[in-house]
Amino acid sequence: MVDKKENKMDKIVSLCKRRGFIFQGSEIYGGFAGFWDYGPYGLALKNNIKNLWWQIFVEEREDIYGMDTSVIMNPRAWEASGHVAGFADQMDNGNKFNVMFKTSVGAGEESIVSYLRPETAGGMFVNFKNIMDSLSPKIPFGLAQVGKAFRNEIAPRDFVFRSREFEQMEVEYFVKPADWEKYFEEWKKIISMWCKIIGLEKSHTHELEVLDKERAHYSKRTIDFEFDYPFGRKELYGLAYRTDFDLKSHSSFSNADLYYYDEETKEKFIPHIIEPSLGVDRTILAVLSEAYKEDEMNEEKRIYLALKPILAPIKVAVFPLLKNKPQLVKKAREIYEDLKKKFKAVEFDDNGNIGKRYRKQDEIGTPFCVTVDFDTLEKDKKVTVRDRDSGKQERIDIDKLITYLSEKISL
Ligand code: GAP
Repeated sequence: MVDKKENKMDKIVSLCKRRGFIFQGSEIYGGFAGFWDYGPYGLALKNNIKNLWWQIFVEEREDIYGMDTSVIMNPRAWEASGHVAGFADQMDNGNKFNVMFKTSVGAGEESIVSYLRPETAGGMFVNFKNIMDSLSPKIPFGLAQVGKAFRNEIAPRDFVFRSREFEQMEVEYFVKPADWEKYFEEWKKIISMWCKIIGLEKSHTHELEVLDKERAHYSKRTIDFEFDYPFGRKELYGLAYRTDFDLKSHSSFSNADLYYYDEETKEKFIPHIIEPSLGVDRTILAVLSEAYKEDEMNEEKRIYLALKPILAPIKVAVFPLLKNKPQLVKKAREIYEDLKKKFKAVEFDDNGNIGKRYRKQDEIGTPFCVTVDFDTLEKDKKVTVRDRDSGKQERIDIDKLITYLSEKISL
């Protein structure tokens, strides 16, 4: 149990810095509000989340195509999307402030003002015609993209929850106008399933029907998926019905034909869009909040991250019991090399005593630690495998180690 709810956030931020997950951006210059840098374990966690999302939302489906579009687009695209006129936040004095980051493209008098994208969606809408012309997908189908988005938030806060540079995992799903409700429901279920897969407790996630006046300018229906963060219940993901707003508007601003022609029914129409939009950094924070645990083991207080093995930055750590016994080190390194071929994210550690090594692996969420001791060499050709959450230790045959770990890690 984590004792005081109000300081759980401080503890997570402190663990992230101490163990190399997430650092304040430009820290040696006093930081820079709204910007964060991911260290090795934070990056591994982030990549595991993005790869799992890509696997489930793109690779395992037949109807979704991946894209990687540019961050900076022709500024006309942001006029068409309504972001130049309407992507504004209220400031304390009542004035509105457009949160898109401006940048200038080109030199001298030739330069023009454009923007860093505030959502990855735009790049997919402006490529609708290219995708139709090159792949001719049949409706319903989707485009998917993972990438950075930028917003000059007036009040960045709560660690990586509200930052000025962040990442999104978005699908733009194109449907017949009459089918939008059916697919909206489908995507609602997929997002709930995703939350379960990444280890969020059902009782900690909530669906909020967003009121008319609070929806983004392009949306006719939005559900926010909220999560009980240590600082309160806040938006984790959004699911929006964007109607034909985007394609219609891009079609009229660019004069491109963004209609879909249905060969079966001979109908021509602008597809409607259902958009599940998932923030990567908010996912990381939700996953860390859920996984952060404190308990007592061997009469000592310990902290551990009960991460799902598929998300854990390191899957297995291998230790020789003693650093100064070459035969133990040699055997441990052999086992490490074998495991690394299979699981890749494997660490060898001979620093300090075993207790210290366990503490580190617990704090970075490594599900299993393997120790080579004298019995391994002299008696039974077995190693000790310790389970992160229970602390339980089992002797496992070296020959059976990969099978044993594979089964547990794939859960
Ligand atoms: N394309 C739709 C869109 O961008 P949004 O609700 O503004 O909708 C979608 O953003 C998701 O992006 C949010 O649910 C959240 O996960 C993430 N997000 C938005 N602003 C963010 C910020 N300032 N910092 C971190 N994540 C953010």
